[in-house]
Amino acid sequence: MSFFNVVRNWMDYPLRNQLRLSRKGLQFKNESKEDLFHNLPDSLRQRALKLEIRLRTDYHLTTYYHSSRKTHYQESIYYLHLLETALEVVPVNLPEVISAVDIGVSHWFYIQALYALLAWWKAPEPRHVKLDGYEIDAFRLYADLYSRLDHAQAHIDGLPGVTYHPDAFSPNTASCHLALMLFPFVTRKEHLKWGLPARFYNPQQLLLDAYETLQPAGLLILVNQGEEERDSQHAMLDSIGLDVSASINFESPLFTYKLPRFITVVKHD
Ligand SMILES: C[S@@+](CC[C@H](N)C(=O)[O-])C[C@H]1O[C@@H](n2cnc3c(N)ncnc32)[C@H](O)[C@@H]1O
Repeated sequence: MSFFNVVRNWMDYPLRNQLRLSRKGLQFKNESKEDLFHNLPDSLRQRALKLEIRLRTDYHLTTYYHSSRKTHYQESIYYLHLLETALEVVPVNLPEVISAVDIGVSHWFYIQALYALLAWWKAPEPRHVKLDGYEIDAFRLYADLYSRLDHAQAHIDGLPGVTYHPDAFSPNTASCHLALMLFPFVTRKEHLKWGLPARFYNPQQLLLDAYETLQPAGLLILVNQGEEERDSQHAMLDSIGLDVSASINFESPLFTYKLPRFITVVKHD
């Protein structure tokens, strides 16, 4: 990362957080889902289609299926599959009223799937969900001149109990059953590459804050890309005295990425 980038982040970030540009009116148009997985070989495509139908049915996502962009839908159900798997690897009971936090949500394109998981995972009736998402860089403008915050609000689309906080995460009382960190910036290089000022880089403190927001027996679910990042993440957890309860290489036919995805779960004492 060049000196130029460090200086640019140092100036750009405060500017967009001063201006806090945001406007209403963003809506996503439905796109046909007919050719989901068309690029997969036949046997894998059949597996993916079966899994997609199972997830859509179990998690009551038919409305979302019929009202979303294709890429948002496809990647969201991949996230759903991933998070469902994370909940299977360490025994957990989710209560009827669930409180969760998602740290570093960006435009939260997967919120509908995440919400559906929290509401319906192993539940005959939907749970009441309280879900708080935090994003330190919520006023970044996208090519359509809507901000990240605007995109997130369009994805949330009025889901009850969901709040998008355009702020850095700070721990609340130890009240959450689940804390999620999906693709956090592990290295300083990534942190700077994505436009954040160097002074905000403190991944160990962020992990401790996430852990502290959990109730006893609550789960911190981390997802990383690539073995190198997973290893650095584990070394970081070790350095702050947090034990890994489970760690798996997650594979799914629903979405293909260049780097493998790794799930790490830390259970609160
Ligand atoms: C790689 S993105 C992952 C976004 C999202 N979880 C996903 O899976 O698409 C990491 C996000 O974390 C945000 N972030 C970094 N540090 C943060 C902090 N201390 N509090 C809140 N958000 C933070 C970044 O701005 C970025 O949007």
